[in-house]
Amino acid sequence: MSAVEVWERYASNSRPRRAVNAAGASTWLNWTQYPDHGPDESVLGDLAGRRVLELGSGSGANLAHLATLGGNCTGVDLAPSRTSTAVAEWGHLPGLEFVTADAVAYLAEKDEVFDVMYSIFGAVWFTDPAILLPAVRDRLRPGGVLAFSQLPATEAGVIAGPAVSKWNYPADQWEKMLADTGFTATASVIPGPADGEVGTLLVHATAV
Ligand SMILES: C[S@@+](CC[C@H](N)C(=O)[O-])C[C@H]1O[C@@H](n2cnc3c(N)ncnc32)[C@H](O)[C@@H]1O
Repeated sequence: MSAVEVWERYASNSRPRRAVNAAGASTWLNWTQYPDHGPDESVLGDLAGRRVLELGSGSGANLAHLATLGGNCTGVDLAPSRTSTAVAEWGHLPGLEFVTADAVAYLAEKDEVFDVMYSIFGAVWFTDPAILLPAVRDRLRPGGVLAFSQLPATEAGVIAGPAVSKWNYPADQWEKMLADTGFTATASVIPGPADGEVGTLLVHATAV
């Protein structure tokens, strides 16, 4: 099975996000695996008029929120059905497009420079950082922001699969890799909402 097939199967089993969150908002950005938990889009800094790229945008709900805040937003996702779902749900919003592509291939093909890139349990988790981080750095302006979230580190570090692998490094290793690639970075684990619940690794990096 290919990575695209893995993600198509994942997409076919995923349910749409709630129409409204606990605060009554119809669009919002959620970094963690829990509803109504963790920081919001302020992690990314100013968004109005900024060129924003989401790596592994899924059904597009997080990116749609950034478009409502004035971002000029593109979401890339490997799975074609994710693009169609995102366009069907959010394609009416101005300043928002969705593209079917592998994140690294997309970055390599573009000659555009972005202000903000982010990934929420998305392509950053599932792509070798030795390949992805330099590709991101090449397409971010100095001072631009890369932020991403995923599950915290495991003993194994890299969990290699036949089609899809996960890079589960600890926070200090992400900080070092990012520093070595031309970023200043901070990484930490947001605690889960209740005792005993797994937290979320959140990494914030600024291109030097
Ligand atoms: C766990 S889902 C998360 C989706 C979304 N970010 C969210 O929070 O709902 C991971 C997504 O990343 C996409 N993805 C995985 N590897 C990718 C890659 N190399 N390039 C682009 N998208 C990728 C998958 O197709 C899938 O939609």
